[in-house]
Amino acid sequence: MDDLGVATRTGAAEVQPFWPSEYSGLIVGYLMRHPGLADGRRVLDLGTGSGILAGTALQLGAAEVAATDLDPAALHVAEDRLARIAPAAHVRLHQGAMWEALTGEARFDLVLANLPNFPAEQLQAGARGAFWSVGGADGRKVLDPFLAGLPGRLRAGGRALFTQNRCVGLRMTLERLAAAGCAARVAETALVPLGPDKIAALSRVNHEPEGVIEMAGFVFLEVALIVAESDGPGRRSGSGRETTG
Ligand SMILES: C[S@@+](CC[C@H](N)C(=O)[O-])C[C@H]1O[C@@H](n2cnc3c(N)ncnc32)[C@H](O)[C@@H]1O
Repeated sequence: MDDLGVATRTGAAEVQPFWPSEYSGLIVGYLMRHPGLADGRRVLDLGTGSGILAGTALQLGAAEVAATDLDPAALHVAEDRLARIAPAAHVRLHQGAMWEALTGEARFDLVLANLPNFPAEQLQAGARGAFWSVGGADGRKVLDPFLAGLPGRLRAGGRALFTQNRCVGLRMTLERLAAAGCAARVAETALVPLGPDKIAALSRVNHEPEGVIEMAGFVFLEVALIVAESDGPGRRSGSGRETTG
């Protein structure tokens, strides 16, 4: 184990049940290339799980971080991780569903989210499958409430970075955000391979069939990293810190 309590050899999954997903990896990579999005900012990690996104924001200099999760066990793990990464940091953890968890919180400069949107009714893969990745038959059970509340939680000029499987309706997401005053675009995409459990559970509802890719006998979902920016009045400019993509 290293000093963050992360197992570094085989057996990691038994020791640390909250392990960052490939989807979070996309967000981490983007933040590392655009550190100004977090540096000095007020950041929210919605559905923090392992705490990876909140931890990344702290390491990149976030002024304050709030993290939420439905799952109290996840928050416990994230709290421990964040305290070790940045003992003196201004961190607030909230247990609860979606935006309801944020009673008393204001708006944010940066919202990070890698929420469940795998299109399936249920998934047997792993003890945490239900909370972790299942997005209901159309994959949008958690995504839609996230989109509905997002514009009201961003400061003017604030950004959101979140991931979504293309097959659950990427165009729908971009259109909804645009209608709510957030300019949104796909910054990056990646292919995430599906194991047998997920292939078996994958719902037939498929808004964008091109997001399910079969290649060389394997099945992949195309995942998009979406960057949304609130275009409200009074947006910050000229800080010199932000490098955007
Ligand atoms: C795909 S996991 C990713 C977590 C984290 N980004 C990571 O990579 O470790 C999704 C997380 O969202 C949480 N979650 C699911 N539904 C939620 C909801 N309605 N409100 C808040 N959190 C939720 C889950 O408990 C889980 O920790």
